[in-house]
Amino acid sequence: MVSKSETIVCPARTVRGSVRLPGDKSISHRYAMLAAIADGSSRLENYSTGADCASTLRCLKSLGVFAERTDGAESVIAIRGLGPSLAAPSEPLDCGNSGSTMRMLSGIVAAQKVKSEMVGDASLSRRPMERVIKPLTGMGAKIESHRGKPPLRITGAGLKAIDYKMPVASAQVKSCLLFAGLLADGETRIEEPVRTRDHGELALRAFGAEVARNGNEVRIRGGQALRGIEARVPGDLSSAAFFLCAAALFPGSHLLIDGLLMNPTRARLLDILMQMGLKISMTQLDEAHGEMVGTIQVEGGRLKGATIAGADTAALIDEIPVLAAIAPYTEQGIEVRDARELRIKESDRIAAIAANLRLMGANVEENEDGLKIPGQQNLRGAELESFGDHRIAMAFAVAALRAEGESLIRGAEAAAVSYPAFFPTLEGLVER
Ligand code: S3P
Repeated sequence: MVSKSETIVCPARTVRGSVRLPGDKSISHRYAMLAAIADGSSRLENYSTGADCASTLRCLKSLGVFAERTDGAESVIAIRGLGPSLAAPSEPLDCGNSGSTMRMLSGIVAAQKVKSEMVGDASLSRRPMERVIKPLTGMGAKIESHRGKPPLRITGAGLKAIDYKMPVASAQVKSCLLFAGLLADGETRIEEPVRTRDHGELALRAFGAEVARNGNEVRIRGGQALRGIEARVPGDLSSAAFFLCAAALFPGSHLLIDGLLMNPTRARLLDILMQMGLKISMTQLDEAHGEMVGTIQVEGGRLKGATIAGADTAALIDEIPVLAAIAPYTEQGIEVRDARELRIKESDRIAAIAANLRLMGANVEENEDGLKIPGQQNLRGAELESFGDHRIAMAFAVAALRAEGESLIRGAEAAAVSYPAFFPTLEGLVER
């Protein structure tokens, strides 16, 4: 993200209303990729409107797949699967800002007996890809990179199954290897250090594959055929996090969100916010293609503090920016530990959070793998920076709601990576 749009956020009095979120980013990527290698057509409703999921569609088209918006709606996508063999791309596969696209799609691309190049923007070009290069190379692909970073030049091959113990907790890597394993010869076994989001496993089952799980181990047999599906992608819980945290800031706020993803491997945020004092009730729980969906109602109140560490850090990895951004307004503050991975996201999120909070006048302790942010601090509006990172732009729009005076967010357009309508939707929910 290079252009620098600025957005002003004024303090609010409360947050009230109802909202329905665009489709979950993690699920949208996976459904699109699996639809591409399935037999038959798929129709995906409420597909994420973010630029990242558009990057996945763009790459699939470069691989010869018909993947188009349909029914005159931006969020309904028709994909005609080609089965396991995709076309040789005539141009580099442009993943934009999307680490998910590059890491997960590399598992499919590595199994094509063609050469392809995967490229990304400046931020993605700084992100580590060794975590997929190493196991995919072990399965038989040849991958050249720029010292473990993009671009990736992949010479695909007939892959063989792998037995792999993942050194870092990453659902992207797990899905990459499950997709590669599906297209490989033999049975692939993956062990993760802590349980990460299971959308890859659930999506594979939805498309007709068998995936076995035993504790932190998942197994997939190669050569299984997928068949296309019709699905509605549940609302993105990581996008909902911004509105939930905004509501949490004001006693008297009231928010209703329906059609929301409630997958237990993603819903840790709801537990943490409840432990911190937010009143959340869940209704209309339902299941679609293995994913839990429901309606939540939230009422703001007093906010206690929290410590986020260990497996919780992995489970909340995308929600930590907004939790940290509201930490100064809590009673006991928030401490985040074991979060080294945050330094290698779309930006160095630990540094970005600390820098913006300090600009707002907060006292923050920045550590190599986390942050300690005391509570009961009053913040002032400030000129803040998105660092080209969607979650930082949105997290500080929320923090700005309770500051004294208005804030300006530079590079606010980064929000479009996951949630283009974020700023107008937030404006529609706040009362001043
Ligand atoms: C994602 C996994 C997480 C997360 C990212 C989406 C996924 O990344 O931060 O936004 O869809 O699997 P890691 O796999 O790097 O932890």
